[in-house]
Amino acid sequence: MIVVGSKFYGHDSAVYCIDTEHKTLFAVSTERVTRKKHDDAPVSVSMELLPEEEIGIIAHSFSAFDDSGPCGSVQVSTAIDVVLRKIDRDMACSASAPEEIAKHPLTAFAAELQKSTEEAKAAGTPIAYINQTAVEAVIRRLLGPKRVTPNTRIKFFDHHLCHAMSAYYSSPFFGRPCLIVTLDGQGDRFFSKAYIFRGDEHKEIGASPAILPHGGYWGDATSIGNIYAFFTQAAGFKPWSDEGKLEALAAFGTPIPHVLQEMRDACVIADNAIYISTSKIKPFHDPEFLAGLIEEHSRSDCAATVQAFLEDIVVDYLNSLSATDDVDCLCLAGGVAANIVMNLKIYERTRFKNIHITPYMGDEGTACGAALLAAKLYKQDVSWVPNHVMPYFGPSYSREEVKATLLSRAREVAFTDLGEAWPAVAAREVTNGRIVALFQGKMEFGPRALGNRSIFANPADPTIRERINVSIKRRPPWQPFCPSILESERERLFVASYPHKYMATAFRMKPEYAAALPSAVHIDGTARPQFVSPEDNPPYHRLLEEMRKLTGFGVVINTSFNLHGRAIVMTPDHAIDDFLDCNLDSLFIEGFRVTRV
Ligand SMILES: [Fe+2]
Repeated sequence: MIVVGSKFYGHDSAVYCIDTEHKTLFAVSTERVTRKKHDDAPVSVSMELLPEEEIGIIAHSFSAFDDSGPCGSVQVSTAIDVVLRKIDRDMACSASAPEEIAKHPLTAFAAELQKSTEEAKAAGTPIAYINQTAVEAVIRRLLGPKRVTPNTRIKFFDHHLCHAMSAYYSSPFFGRPCLIVTLDGQGDRFFSKAYIFRGDEHKEIGASPAILPHGGYWGDATSIGNIYAFFTQAAGFKPWSDEGKLEALAAFGTPIPHVLQEMRDACVIADNAIYISTSKIKPFHDPEFLAGLIEEHSRSDCAATVQAFLEDIVVDYLNSLSATDDVDCLCLAGGVAANIVMNLKIYERTRFKNIHITPYMGDEGTACGAALLAAKLYKQDVSWVPNHVMPYFGPSYSREEVKATLLSRAREVAFTDLGEAWPAVAAREVTNGRIVALFQGKMEFGPRALGNRSIFANPADPTIRERINVSIKRRPPWQPFCPSILESERERLFVASYPHKYMATAFRMKPEYAAALPSAVHIDGTARPQFVSPEDNPPYHRLLEEMRKLTGFGVVINTSFNLHGRAIVMTPDHAIDDFLDCNLDSLFIEGFRVTRV
């Protein structure tokens, strides 16, 4: 059976497909297809990459369709919005061509949806049923009768349970009792839930409500994730996207004690939940108040304040959770789990030393959870899913396909075939100060490039960070780059650490090595590593072994292969486009070394 989990629309929409018969996985975020970061478009474009087989189940990672009060029929209006956005995409720019929009086949469908909704409301149909019917109609219409037959079941699952399932099934602790905590902006009216997973059983032990202080818009709900996003926005970055920049900036500041206290006083931890007082937290939703705070203090002090708030509240919450005494494994998921310094503090300040942070911790990961829940609901065996340790679930391209693409662009690029010898050549170039792009195998699922769509460089070179920033990434100069490191080097280089493969937590590097690897270490002495074992990614491991032979360290800087403002490359054409559009020195793509003509 083909089971497709989705975050069907909205921020970080994505699909995760389980073929239960062949025991294979495929997953991709919409942003990789459209190259628009965090794209919120419906997943129809990503679905085109799936095998052309009948889909047994499509699951969506939201379920709270019983909204009432200020949100009213939010899911229906969202469903219509999804249709309108699809029209926008199809038309390229709808605003300038209203008469063309009127002719689009989905325009009539959106009107039908609106009309049937109003009739159902007038007839007193429960809002939950109206909403679910509307979203299901949108899914069926957008995917079309060829992919979604009348036999295809459409299912909806709780957002946080989807996050939690993605954490448990990607963790090395699968089968053992685990505490799983989700943290995000909000999903299905909560910003955090805590569960105990024991084998096939799970129990929700806590739920932290997101509350709408002013009515209407869930992006404004009280939540730990949203408070961080509001600070991100006030500091001049893109909210729900650039939180990592604020987090990096925090290392340069000092928390403002009375502001930190005020924020902390707005939160109460009780009954295994975090409750946020809407009245006390209100100023921190106000852009003018936050702008004043930054003016009075500084961006970095404000960043340090909200970072300290996040760390303190999450650490206190984890330490407060009851009914977890026999559980020593912790899994984290949800967009807030992308905060790598918070994850370090959890390691240092709670009793949990067995920690797993989901590599697809953002909302793309809920597609994974939705697929797993749907498969289990229909008694499909998914016990093999945790064997897929590395999230290489995306599209891949054969050497023949790559060669054909390179030949088709012979006016722009030249290439030589190194075959399996490429890691040694690439390592030599990197050691000589070159910035090199790597494209191989299946694309990563989740926000990090883990050696298959990566740009890498020598961390021992103190100028390399600035060079990558200026010529390729245009990131703030203070934002660190993550290193990939041989797992066998982990204990030598770090003060304390655990095996971690996904660049989702920081560890403190021993000072003597921090000095030797300046471009891989942040100002606070931490690095955010991907520890690489041979079985994780054999060619990438070979590259790191070559680096160890040449430099004494099995370490490279690894940043995602994309130009500033674009999502990570997916296809060989994307790779060549980005290679040509910036100052990368060479590109290694499936064993071919590519240079400019
Ligand atoms: Fe979420």
